This record gives sequence, C-alpha cells and structure tokens, in this order.
Amino acid sequence: MLRTAAEVRGWRARTGRVGFVPTMGALHEGHEALMRRAAAESDVAAASIFVNPTQFGPQEDFRSYPRAEARDVVLCERAGVAMVFAPSALEMYPDGDATRVQPGPIALPLEGAARPGHFTGVCTVLTKLFAIVRPDAAYFGQKDFQQLRVVQTMNRDLRLGVRIVGCPTVRDPDGLALSSRNGHLTADQRRSALALSRGLFAGRDLWTAGERDPAKLRLAVERIAAGPGVALEYVSVADPYTLEELGGPQGKVLISLAAHVGKTRLIDNVLLGIEVGEVE
Ligand code: PAJ
Repeated sequence: MLRTAAEVRGWRARTGRVGFVPTMGALHEGHEALMRRAAAESDVAAASIFVNPTQFGPQEDFRSYPRAEARDVVLCERAGVAMVFAPSALEMYPDGDATRVQPGPIALPLEGAARPGHFTGVCTVLTKLFAIVRPDAAYFGQKDFQQLRVVQTMNRDLRLGVRIVGCPTVRDPDGLALSSRNGHLTADQRRSALALSRGLFAGRDLWTAGERDPAKLRLAVERIAAGPGVALEYVSVADPYTLEELGGPQGKVLISLAAHVGKTRLIDNVLLGIEVGEVE
C-alpha cells in the first residue's frame, strides 16, 4: 500500500496501462466487480481508498462513514489490484489548499440539489487522484449514475484523457443495491430498504410492458418505494445524458431515487432503453 503522491508517481513510471478504481473504502462486491474489470482490461489495476472530506456536507456522515482499511486491502488483492493508494487527508489537501474543481449544470439536479457542493468535492478529489495515478482508464459504478455523468463531463471538458468506464450496479440476490452504507442498517431497516429496488423494478416492468408516460412511471415507482420505514426524498424520471426531468415519452430513461431509512441515506436507479456501458 502506498501513502504518498511521490510513491505513486515512482510506481507509475515503472508501469504499463493502468486501470484505476477510486473508492472510499468499506469495500463490497460492487467495488470488487470494478476492480476485477480494471484488472482484466489493463496491464495493472490500481485502486484508491480515501474518505474524501470535501464531498460531505457539514450535516452529513463523514465522521460515521464506515472505515475498514485492513479488510479492504485484502479484498483489493483478491480482486487483482496491484497498487492501493491510501493517502492521509493532508496528503490530498495540503496546508492552505483552496483550489476546487466546479462541475457544470450536469451536477445541479438530483444529488447535486440534495447535497450542495457534493460534486465539487468529488470532481476536486478525482482531479487530484487522476493527476497522481495518471490512469489510462477509470471505472465507475452505475449505482452512482449522476457521479458517472459528472465525471464523464469533467473528463471531456478538462481534456483529462482518461477512458471513463461505466459498470452495472451489483445487487444482493433480493435486489438491494450494495452500498458501504448498508452496514448501518438494522435487519428491520434492511427489509424496509428493499422497497427502493422493488419500486424501481416495478417501474422497469411497466416500461417493458410499454408504458412511456414519465408521470405514470414515476407514480408506479413511488407507490412501492415509499413503503413503511422509508422516507423518500425524490423519485426522478430523467434523460440519462442531461439528467433533466422528462416532460414526455422518450426512448432512453433514467429512473433514480434517494431515501432515508432510519438515519441512513440510500440511492439507487435503473436505466431503461440503454445500458450503462453505452452512456458516453
Ligand atoms: P464509493 O462510494 O466507495 O464508490 C466507489 C465506486 O464504486 C463508485 O464508482 C461507485 O459507483 C461504485 N459502486 C458503489 N456501489 C456499487 C454497486 N453496488 N455496484 C457497482 N458499483 C458500485 O463513489 C465514491 O466512492 C466516491 O465518490 C469517489 C468516486 C471515490 C470519490 O471520492
């Protein structure tokens, strides 16, 4: 495991094509799938573990975000990752650090509206990580679909030259999207949280049956997702490229939602008429 940017740059100079998986740790099979793909498609796979303070709001869960570094390193090795970068906060944000990378309108709706400044923190830390690791490709999960779109857009706008790869969401067999935050759920809350994926799948079924009216799709999702123990924050039926809410029928759709189950905030989504790997 490497701790400093200088160590990573030394490693990078000796290395071929790098596939990179940035993470905040507390790793699960969703992260593992990204790592295995990075390892399969590159000469070497690299990962970072860094709970990035600048992407958490003042009232959010930075302090209680799960941390499990020793276990994470074992999972990385098992998934074929050759280099893990786990910097300190000071290594990423040196004394006096004040530069921020501000994304455009793609970061405004959905998670951007619910979490002001979140994507500025994400873009800032990823710019730093890309500058240190200099990956050829970087792998992101559909689970955080808006993040994928924000990163694709930043990569294009800033001419970073990284191949950004979107990978499908990994779920537990009962449908719950894997998330580092699932560990905070009690058994009861986990049962409640299943309403989220069930709602999204009901929307997908309706779509498969031919429904294209965004309002009807949204209602169908809401009805099931707003189950007992779930405080729905939003259900959105949007264009997967612009993330703007749909006013009428469209052939490619992102249905996404956010909810609180107890104190834990969860997000999930489905894509209709398009696969995550096709979104560029
Ligand atoms: P983190 O939440 O640790 O997620 C790291 C990567 O794993 C992201 O690309 C995320 O979309 C992906 N991921 C999470 N759960 C997944 C699942 N169930 N299936 C597939 N992929 C999944 O996202 C972040 O960290 C941070 O914002 C980061 C990009 C590291 C910047 O700090």
